[in-house]
Amino acid sequence: MSPHRHRYGTTGDSTTAERHPHMTEPITGGRAAADADWWRQAVVYQIYPRSFADANGDGIGDLPGITSRAGYLADLGVDAVWLSPFYPSALADGGYDVDDYRDVDPRLGSLDDFDVMIKALHDKGIKLIVDIVPNHSSNRHEWFRQALAAPKGSPERDRYVFRDGLGERGELPPADWTSMFGGPAWTPVGDGQWYLHLFAIEQPDFNWRNEEVRADFLTTLRFWSDRGVDGFRVDVAHALAKHLPDDLPSETELAAMDKATGTHLLWDRDEVHDIYADWRRVFDEYDPPRIAVAEAWVNPPWRRARYASAEGLGQAFNFDLLEADFDAGAFRRIITDNLEQAADSGSSTTWVFSNHDVIRHATRYGLPPNGDQPRRSGRAWLLSGGAEPALDAAAGLRRARAATLLMLALPGSAYLYQGEELGLGEVADIPAQDRQDPTFFRSPGVDVGRDGCRVPIPWTTGGDSFGFGDDGAHLPQPEWFGGLSVEAQEGDPASTLALYRDALALRRELQTTEALDWAPSGPEVLHVKRAGGWEAVANFGAGPAPLPEGEVLLASGPVEGGELPPETTVWLRTTA
Ligand code: GLC
Repeated sequence: MSPHRHRYGTTGDSTTAERHPHMTEPITGGRAAADADWWRQAVVYQIYPRSFADANGDGIGDLPGITSRAGYLADLGVDAVWLSPFYPSALADGGYDVDDYRDVDPRLGSLDDFDVMIKALHDKGIKLIVDIVPNHSSNRHEWFRQALAAPKGSPERDRYVFRDGLGERGELPPADWTSMFGGPAWTPVGDGQWYLHLFAIEQPDFNWRNEEVRADFLTTLRFWSDRGVDGFRVDVAHALAKHLPDDLPSETELAAMDKATGTHLLWDRDEVHDIYADWRRVFDEYDPPRIAVAEAWVNPPWRRARYASAEGLGQAFNFDLLEADFDAGAFRRIITDNLEQAADSGSSTTWVFSNHDVIRHATRYGLPPNGDQPRRSGRAWLLSGGAEPALDAAAGLRRARAATLLMLALPGSAYLYQGEELGLGEVADIPAQDRQDPTFFRSPGVDVGRDGCRVPIPWTTGGDSFGFGDDGAHLPQPEWFGGLSVEAQEGDPASTLALYRDALALRRELQTTEALDWAPSGPEVLHVKRAGGWEAVANFGAGPAPLPEGEVLLASGPVEGGELPPETTVWLRTTA
């Protein structure tokens, strides 16, 4: 048996090329790659801009803040940044209520700042994906203001979804539908008409049968593509096409409708793909073609395929790991199914554990498993505002590190969320008066909302807002953030930051487009084999597992004595 060379947490002071002279050539996703397939194996880092870095000291993160951290992103080793909305917005829904699709929120900077930021990222070989929000605008968008000022039946109202109310004077809603954030989905405008908003009141839904709406989004896609943007993350991509009959069904009837047939009145209708075929023609005007990834929470999962097709958006989020417990069987099933699905649609899959909508995975994995209690409400998780489940933070972080290291060894692209490379957990105890998320306000006492994963990230161990900016942070940061700051972890080879840096550097060398093989393993262990002798072994169990032969390249926790400890993943190199 060959000795296991243990390389848990290097300091990163030598280049990985020096450390691993015999590794395979990078095949895709490398920084230098200018090819049309750069996204297939890319590591994409999501920035929620108001909470990343605040350059002008107003408590809100901004574009110059991102520019100032381009070096950090390059050192981390990501291939691309996905930027959540940075457009002018009243922030009724964290910027997903867009006032103007072709401008920058003055609190975040200007179009000039955008150009400087994209150049700084590109200079470091990092691509930029921006969020596009086509299902709804904000109620402050010029078109919605015009719609309110115009009469019933006008072309201005036709850009949105207006309906006459019921009752003698239209004083009753056209239907009893509930919005995604709680509360009614129809709001009256005072003249007997009501407008539809699947999300917050401030987010009126567009009418995608309207030609002006369709044309205007093509203009927006070209606007950002011309500025050098490499791709788009498409918000609520499955909701754009709607069919509202004269007699609207009730909420109960709507909920009972089959979502698998492409004929549901609101979600995942087949004709939504006509819209994306138009978008694809725009993407393909560019060289390399602009890319897109759909946020489409569709079911059954095979319905993702059309969003991910080459005639459509090209890639679609698979949120299956994000919804799963830390469980070997669940992970194995999800990995197998998604790799198959992606191959069927000619796309690559997307792995994601955390984003701005869900509880951070370092916390999620420290909570009791999903099945034990109903912790979910909508798409946010309950941490308080009712019975608060007991949290084992150390176990959560240990499992998060193990899960992430396994995920980074899989084919496909990996979407990371700012702060997860620090092992940040959810901030559960944000006082009610500081909360911002509409889900909190629209579902009193039921759903604490998503602010807990959107708290500005800590750069330094102390100081004002832990180095986020010079004048506080727009959501309160807890004391424990200092110990997880970049400064606290810098130079610590056992830190989560070092683990991410090492993993991304190694992945850049080792990742190929080749499929994976499963090696035989016990029920609590997943053993993945990749081309070139790269293997990942994850022990999900509570006891140690045998450590297969090979050189240990990286481990999510301490590995000693030839055993794989509980809740730990290692990367191995074997002679193929
Ligand atoms: C998406 C976004 C979420 C937003 C919603 C409405 O799900 O990820 O943050 O609230 O769309 O735009």
